[in-house]
Amino acid sequence: SIESLLAGRHIVITAGPTREEIDPVRFISNHSSGKMGYALASASVALGAKVTLISGPVNLPCPAGVDLVNVVSAEQMHRAVMKAVGATQSDTAGDIMQPNCDIFIGCAAVADYKPQQKTEQKIKKSDTELTLTFTRNPDILSDVAHLAQPPFTVGFAAETQDVAHYAQDKLKRKKLDMIAANDVSQAGLGFNSEQNALNVYWNNGGKNLGVADKSQLAISLMTLVAQRHAVK
Ligand code: C5P
Repeated sequence: SIESLLAGRHIVITAGPTREEIDPVRFISNHSSGKMGYALASASVALGAKVTLISGPVNLPCPAGVDLVNVVSAEQMHRAVMKAVGATQSDTAGDIMQPNCDIFIGCAAVADYKPQQKTEQKIKKSDTELTLTFTRNPDILSDVAHLAQPPFTVGFAAETQDVAHYAQDKLKRKKLDMIAANDVSQAGLGFNSEQNALNVYWNNGGKNLGVADKSQLAISLMTLVAQRHAVK
């Protein structure tokens, strides 16, 4: 039955945006609402899984039965994820790990860059131009997929063009088991909306889950994850 598809599985999910601080009063972030990740957490609980949801700042209630870990920055999210999947410092370098997670889903819109330095004092208005220098954040999804004993790893791809091409490229490059692509160029879908359209790809296969409410899509996607995880 559907309630036992993911029974006994530990699923770790990231959701929402991250915030990267510029100074004590400012940050850069993005429009992610966290709705898709939270819907995936609810769907996973409904399918019988034990869920750890690692979330950036959002305006959503914690889904029932979910273990919620709140974080702000990409670095904090990276640390919380590595702890939740059972990896230790040395594991990222490819050593022993205690696998503690069956399925990892990276649904968060993680900031790719952070300001090189957070200034201690508020930046003052002075010149007509202001230049900030950014450095790369760690890629959480890729780091999980490259662990010595990785969980079944699922990523998301928000693309505005050549969706299938970029998604499949990301699947291989980040060593993922599955990727869910949404075309964010379509009005009313994806970022900050109730509906989404997902095209799912895995090695030598794929499925179009069509346009639906995020809660419905979450059940469809988690059912697919359970099926692919079972045959892996
Ligand atoms: O490479 P790109 O950012 O388009 O990949 C998107 C996927 O990678 C999403 O699943 C997102 O959660 C994950 N990601 C991540 N850490 C980053 C950047 C993206 O986990 N620093």
